[in-house]
Amino acid sequence: LFAGEVTFLKGVVAMDGLPPDDRPEVCFAGRSNVGKSSLINALTGRKGLARASNTPGRTQEINFFTLAESHYLVDLPGYGFANAPVAIVEKWQRLLKQYLSGRASLRRAFVLVDARHGIKSVDEEIMTLLDRSAVTFQAVLTKTDKLKASELDKVLDQVRGKLAKHPAAYPELVLTSSEKGDGIPLLRAIIAGLA
Ligand code: GTP
Ligand code: MG
Repeated sequence: LFAGEVTFLKGVVAMDGLPPDDRPEVCFAGRSNVGKSSLINALTGRKGLARASNTPGRTQEINFFTLAESHYLVDLPGYGFANAPVAIVEKWQRLLKQYLSGRASLRRAFVLVDARHGIKSVDEEIMTLLDRSAVTFQAVLTKTDKLKASELDKVLDQVRGKLAKHPAAYPELVLTSSEKGDGIPLLRAIIAGLA
């Protein structure tokens, strides 16, 4: 699947702008700055495909990428703090929640969690919404290159404990570093298996 072509399809700002739900789709959700866009770039091997930056609130639309003409990869705006006006942020958050709870072709939501911080209350809110909407989600730890193994173990305990309370959580965690490439082949294989 990831040997195929990947192209940017469109940025969506309202539910009526979503492309037809005619193919399997996976999305990347998570707090602002957690590394969603960077992960999409690492997965596709295309550095500048999804816009990434150090400014929280970089991704401001629901961005659709076509993968091998058969799947969509979806880069979502972050939740939590963003460097943007409150009214605008609220608009994205509404759209994000509508999308996550009402997209028939969504096969799995990857919920990205910064390996240094673990699961926060805003993550749990999103996870609860996914439980209610019966959207299977899988936690992906990001930026693992920034931690020592012993620090990572602690966070893993916290993450596993929290996930156990969410019926829609897929139990397997994926540990990634977009910078070093760790976990990227595994995540590609998981996505390819969701056809
Ligand atoms: P928003 O669109 O603002 O919600 O952010 P995002 O979740 O898309 O994060 P983005 O990919 O823009 O990355 C945020 C910052 O984290 C950037 O400065 C990235 O270079 C950095 N970053 C992302 N992934 C990694 C990683 O695996 N390791 C390290 N060290 N830094 C990373
Ligand atoms: Mg982004």
